[in-house]
Amino acid sequence: MTGLDIVANAAKMVAPGRGILAADESTGTIQKRLDGIGVESTEDNRRAYRQLLFTTAGAEAHISGVILFDETLRQAADDGTPFSKLLLDKDILPGIKVDKGAKDLAGSLGEKVTEGLDGLRERLAEYVDLGATFTKWRAVIDIGAGIPSRYCIEANAHALARYAALSQEAGLVPIVEPEVLMDGDHDIERCREVTEETLQVTFDQLANQRVLLEGMVLKPNMVLPGKKCASQNSVEEVAEMTVKTLRRRVPAAVPGIAFLSGGQSEEEATAHLNAMNGLGPLPWELSFSYGRALQASALQAWGGKADAVAAGQAAFAHRAKMNGLARSGDYQADMERDAA
Ligand code: 13P
Repeated sequence: MTGLDIVANAAKMVAPGRGILAADESTGTIQKRLDGIGVESTEDNRRAYRQLLFTTAGAEAHISGVILFDETLRQAADDGTPFSKLLLDKDILPGIKVDKGAKDLAGSLGEKVTEGLDGLRERLAEYVDLGATFTKWRAVIDIGAGIPSRYCIEANAHALARYAALSQEAGLVPIVEPEVLMDGDHDIERCREVTEETLQVTFDQLANQRVLLEGMVLKPNMVLPGKKCASQNSVEEVAEMTVKTLRRRVPAAVPGIAFLSGGQSEEEATAHLNAMNGLGPLPWELSFSYGRALQASALQAWGGKADAVAAGQAAFAHRAKMNGLARSGDYQADMERDAA
């Protein structure tokens, strides 16, 4: 049993060479992913897929923690070992997504606020009993005509800080995730401006609500142009803009920043992280907490076939290794071809 020391566990989550696998897709999101490979989203198929990821030999060299969904934290491997124990035995910290999703924000057209605070203290106590060591809460900030409003950013930041304080009270490391979406046609400068304001308001709230910065992990978006923006930026430009924004707004007491991938391809997400880690020295660890960018090729290689589990695991192991190398700026794009 790993002790619930939030400072030690936060440092472990962002330890050099390793990063976090976000495998906490809600029932609706995992259904979309399984639909994409023609697999029915039954409880057992979801379990089989997560088992494939968690039993990948050697993944622990590059994976420090896994974020689980409620259903998964209660599931076990074929031999009956609970997933939380299986992970802990491999020196991988199990974590749990505790928010209840982004819902329409009252009085705003098209913006969202993340729910899930009611009864959270009691749910956290149960998650501790089930073996969780950290938590995740995702806030969603959309960029569009006239949005985001300050109201939306403040409502989300307030909820993030309330969640973070409750998690720390329970001995769980909160992953604080204010995600500025990359949908839309805005340019990188607009993303920088919104990301900077979002981080500023979020850290104000974290301070107001007495969150211990040494015992948390920040999970932000990278600063990117919108997917539909006509002018896309180079890997170096994205890296420089993202690091500049974080330097302005993230206190040095935060042990680590673990990016979401947010719709980037697997190779883009790795290349961006690698370039950022080449811009050091930095005040915090710069790591990954990818969902799609760690799983897309593994899902494709597996395709739901029992005889393709090894192929799915090989694809996941490869992505974990590439991102592990990007933690120190040692990744090169030709390593993708060598593996193919
Ligand atoms: P992506 O890396 O697919 O954006 O997912 C990370 C995550 O956990 C979003 O909440």
